[in-house]
Amino acid sequence: MPQFRKLDLERLLGQVRYSAGAPWIQHLATLGLSDCRLAHFGCAGGAQTLALMWVLDASEAWGIDRSIDQARKTMCNARQWVCESILALPYESQAALTWWEDQVPLFLKQKRFPVMVKERDIAHPIRPYQLPDRYFDLACCSHLLYHILGEQGKEAVVSAVREMIRVTKPGGWIVVDEPDEGVVQRYREFLEQAGLDVCRVDVDETVIQAGEKLTASTYYCQFRGR
Ligand SMILES: C[S@@+](CC[C@H](N)C(=O)[O-])C[C@H]1O[C@@H](n2cnc3c(N)ncnc32)[C@H](O)[C@@H]1O
Repeated sequence: MPQFRKLDLERLLGQVRYSAGAPWIQHLATLGLSDCRLAHFGCAGGAQTLALMWVLDASEAWGIDRSIDQARKTMCNARQWVCESILALPYESQAALTWWEDQVPLFLKQKRFPVMVKERDIAHPIRPYQLPDRYFDLACCSHLLYHILGEQGKEAVVSAVREMIRVTKPGGWIVVDEPDEGVVQRYREFLEQAGLDVCRVDVDETVIQAGEKLTASTYYCQFRGR
């Protein structure tokens, strides 16, 4: 495998590993969701979508964002790098082979990529691409609602949460992870207004790179069905 491709794959794997270590993703691993279908809203570049798929051993992972160019590129590149490296590694150095054995997650080695990327504004009532009803075991988002609140307002946040409810199976989970800068109740209100009971809230204090303290909170709602 040409060296630059290995470096690109290493960079992607670094992002996936970093995302997989996030407390809200780690906690999801305890919910018994393996082999699930998941929808990840506001997927941006797609590294978190891959991390979710990896940690939960999901059978399907859909990344949804209003702008999917970066995520689409990530998924195409990851597929291509993995396929190329499978062809090239037997002829590369022992070090490259060791790297592959030790560093590459099993789902990539096995070329399991059931990740779909869809372009959608989750808060907008007119939806050119309609996601299926009651299809997912988990609908989740991280650092999405505050964007919608800032750009589209409160009603749009409630409408986005209702959309997460619509696509989730009865008994499935809706998980919202937000930086809230100390106002823990704020997102709970939106979730309750949309018709969800919050069954658990985790508050996580993380020191971000600039040395500034950021408080993130994660809301776990088990959707009881209609
Ligand atoms: C701060 S990024 C979060 C990325 C990732 N989840 C993370 O935590 O690293 C917010 C993402 O939400 C997307 N987004 C914002 N409003 C949206 C909307 N109404 N519908 C769909 N995606 C939206 C943006 O395009 C962006 O990729």
